[in-house]
Amino acid sequence: MSAIDEIVLSPDPRLKEQCARIEEIDGSVRRLAKRMLRDMYAAEGCGLAAPQVGELVQMVVIDVDYAGEDGHKNPYVLINPEIVEASEETRPFNEGCLSFPGILVEIERPRRVVVQAENLDGDLMQYEAADNLLAVCLQHEIDHLSGTTMVDHLSPMKRVEALASYQDALESGARPGETDHD
Ligand code: NI
Repeated sequence: MSAIDEIVLSPDPRLKEQCARIEEIDGSVRRLAKRMLRDMYAAEGCGLAAPQVGELVQMVVIDVDYAGEDGHKNPYVLINPEIVEASEETRPFNEGCLSFPGILVEIERPRRVVVQAENLDGDLMQYEAADNLLAVCLQHEIDHLSGTTMVDHLSPMKRVEALASYQDALESGARPGETDHD
């Protein structure tokens, strides 16, 4: 099984669950982070949440700087992340998700967020992002930890459309990381 095959695809029920807090950063937590980073890079995604590899715990990995095989890696591992501030002003962005291969959907989210999370050393870190991929990615990935996926932000009609395109993409063989399948 390749790293990409490990990624859980919608409508898997594990994508709808509330994930548990991580109480202790032990070897299994570090191994999970390593596995998630491997899978994220394999699929050329900019973020991945633990339920997307079938683990219902509060961990996400993000790298918004990585660009292909020669790209410089700048991975963030966020444990028990929380959005502590979000702007009222929102901004649309075309989002993809490794659990929904083949589609991009325009989602409106706060343009600025502040996130607190532990890192793998157990230090409490703070991340602030506005008007960029990191701001979107933080919100998208943290959503996964409470069973929310990007399509849940769409109006009912747009959601039906998005899920129909997703179904078509899957039927024509779209794989995680592909967003332009037709
Ligand atoms: Ni996602």
